[in-house]
Amino acid sequence: MLLRAAPAFSLSNHQVETQAPLFSNVSLSQTTFSRYFSSSSHQLYSPRNGTGSVVVCATKGANHKPLSGVVFEPCKEVKKELDLVPTLPQVSLARQKFTDDCEALINEQINVEYNVSYVYHSMFAYFDRDNVALKGLAKLFKELSLEEREHAEKFMKYQNKRGGKVKLQSILMPLSEFDHAEKADESYAMELALSLEKLTNEKLLDLYSVAVRNHDVQLTEFIQSEYLVEQVEAIKKISEYVAQLRRVGKGHGVWHFDQMLLHEGEEAAIA
Ligand SMILES: [Fe+2]
Repeated sequence: MLLRAAPAFSLSNHQVETQAPLFSNVSLSQTTFSRYFSSSSHQLYSPRNGTGSVVVCATKGANHKPLSGVVFEPCKEVKKELDLVPTLPQVSLARQKFTDDCEALINEQINVEYNVSYVYHSMFAYFDRDNVALKGLAKLFKELSLEEREHAEKFMKYQNKRGGKVKLQSILMPLSEFDHAEKADESYAMELALSLEKLTNEKLLDLYSVAVRNHDVQLTEFIQSEYLVEQVEAIKKISEYVAQLRRVGKGHGVWHFDQMLLHEGEEAAIA
């Protein structure tokens, strides 16, 4: 905030108020004065202290006294910004220090989240078939699909919040069969899920690096708090599923694993 002390201010010679001064013996500088003033609604005045420096005092209960000798010029400081307020209807009014790089990469990340969601949805459809009938895996992949779509939508909202434009791109056709020559279909699908989560994490880290490079503190904080923590947890959880499926092998163990997924969370809901 631009603050100008009028000449009368430095020459004023009010009596120093003695009741509970909050600060005193402060040399008057723009920065110092501005800080004190903006953090306090107390009356300020400036008697000489006899040493050549200006004494500034603030007291509780002095709010009723009129402010004198200080001139604020906020409109002068924001004049440049005021001139830059867009007038075209297709241009964002809110956009500030949000680079084209960040905007483009957010759109790419939206596409990544949608593609991963699409693959998970295809996995849900596969395990829900009557001749596959692994309902627990179908449930898991449906939940993961919805979660990825929510991730995409959260980025869309953030893009709008920063004044960027959401530009959706094409989604690739996913696999529809998850049987594998050497692996059981559930193991293959779970390993594929693990790879997708790691890919998503890499893309998020790329986006984070670009945000850091552009000194976009808001975007780095958003990615870190809303995505990176959860992403590492998802990788750990799916890694455990891969390990468990390798242990159980084919057959009866898979049915138990599937039942575990199907009823996961039910106990907590009952309790
Ligand atoms: Fe995601």
